[in-house]
Amino acid sequence: MGKKWNAERKNEHYYKMAKKEQYRSRASYKLLQLNKRFKVIKSGDKVVDLGAAPGGWSQIALEAVGEEGMVIGVDLEWIRPLDDENFYTIRGDFTNEEILGQVKDLISGMAQVVISDASPKLSGIKDMDNLRSADLADNALKVCDHLLMHSGNFVLKAFQGAEFENIVKNIKERFKTVKTTKPPSSKKGSVEMYIVAKGFKRMF
Ligand SMILES: C[S@@+](CC[C@H](N)C(=O)[O-])C[C@H]1O[C@@H](n2cnc3c(N)ncnc32)[C@H](O)[C@@H]1O
Repeated sequence: MGKKWNAERKNEHYYKMAKKEQYRSRASYKLLQLNKRFKVIKSGDKVVDLGAAPGGWSQIALEAVGEEGMVIGVDLEWIRPLDDENFYTIRGDFTNEEILGQVKDLISGMAQVVISDASPKLSGIKDMDNLRSADLADNALKVCDHLLMHSGNFVLKAFQGAEFENIVKNIKERFKTVKTTKPPSSKKGSVEMYIVAKGFKRMF
């Protein structure tokens, strides 16, 4: 029984846990583990969740912000509402300024945290998928420029590929501390990496 078998078992483990704990996706555990380790989201925060469907990260963010905070999930897909009055959803493309305007109206000001688990629809062509993922990462950083408050935090999923170092470099220019990491619940062989950036340096 080799590595593949172990990876599949681990996957199955998080899948079962998500079902049992009523999280909408296995991805929930990635944010849960990242937040436990890096303390990105705190009670009372306003969090913008980019590429939020079906809502697994939003569920974790809602637990972390508590009653005084709020979470806005944005996705191209419809996000089924959660039974939580601090959760708002917007169906649309976060690379579109009009959608960003809607997010801004909802938070009435700036957010303390931006999180993005957005992924392009995978074509199976590695270079093309990497480029699309890098483009989404770039756009998620633009969202920070638009609505992340000074000293705010950012969590981003990005694919390891030719563009990865460039993405990290751009983030380092804008944040005080930047860590790249792979939480235990992320599949070992997968190209996804997570960038945790804290202390946004707002220039304007
Ligand atoms: C891996 S899923 C996110 C899973 C989610 N974090 C969870 O825990 O349930 C990636 C999502 O990114 C969304 N997405 C990709 N590009 C987008 C864009 N430009 N605007 C909004 N959502 C986008 C996709 O529709 C997809 O639902």
